[in-house]
Amino acid sequence: MTQEKDCLDLSNKSVEEILELVALAEAYEAGQKPKALNKDVKVANLFFENSTRTVTSFQMAEHNLGLSRFDVNLAASSVKKGETLSDTLKTVEAIGMDIAVVRHSEDGWFDQVKQEGVKLALVNAGDGAGVHPSQTMLDLLTIKQEFGRFKGLKVMMVGDLSHSRVVNSDAHVFKKLGMGLTFAGPKEWWNDDLKHYGKYVELDDGIKEADVVMCLRVQNERLDDKEASSFSAEDYIKHYSVNEARAAMMKPTAIFMHPGPVNRDIEIESALVDGARSRIFKQMKNGVFARMALLTKVLEANEWMEDEA
Ligand code: CP
Repeated sequence: MTQEKDCLDLSNKSVEEILELVALAEAYEAGQKPKALNKDVKVANLFFENSTRTVTSFQMAEHNLGLSRFDVNLAASSVKKGETLSDTLKTVEAIGMDIAVVRHSEDGWFDQVKQEGVKLALVNAGDGAGVHPSQTMLDLLTIKQEFGRFKGLKVMMVGDLSHSRVVNSDAHVFKKLGMGLTFAGPKEWWNDDLKHYGKYVELDDGIKEADVVMCLRVQNERLDDKEASSFSAEDYIKHYSVNEARAAMMKPTAIFMHPGPVNRDIEIESALVDGARSRIFKQMKNGVFARMALLTKVLEANEWMEDEA
């Protein structure tokens, strides 16, 4: 099996490859030490969009794997002078970086930079409303820890189905692993592409059946002017917020997830975020192990990691 030298999207990975990644993340969570590196691997973190979880857990994963880490301060960088993404990446490559972990608002930013000759290994930390592979990995790890399996589980995704890269990423991989998906949220945010993965349901119906209720953040920064002016938090809360009354309809074993950051009392009632069914902070912890697993595959594919421990 040829491994990819980048980590951009999980959708082209086989079930076996995904399960192997989950198993590696589980092993890291259980305390397995990473294999040694055969060179000083240098990684640049470039977050053109804001982040707390993804940036911090990539930093921790890089530390745990023994990588040399460089956090590029984009607010004070030459991006502000009009430098293109490709030129910024070619610059860090010229300076000696081996890997760039990039979050950027442009969907599929990596295709263009590759066409423009960027050569260093690329890790996608979220592209616009495209995909978020490391989020999908940590979501899978959280589900596996909870239920011990994927096949046959029912996952309901609730909220901003149109602008969320998490739903795009997760839906494809979850279906491939045999999970059943349903979607609820404002009809104007329904995304027809999701028909390939599951059906639209009313929240109050779907919530009774779900093993996992995954609330999606309202992506205020991605709403166009029309969407922003017609959005009513009051209406959203009434129809789509997961609250105590709706939680009471859930199966006793069902859990809440949310990629974060949470708009408390919008997508989910604040008390539930910290409650017994919530795995939201567990997801954040799992982000470190999931990202260690993804980076390990990049290191192996580039032959920067020893074969044996
Ligand atoms: N889930 C997620 O990507 O969170 P951050 O934006 O804080 O990285």
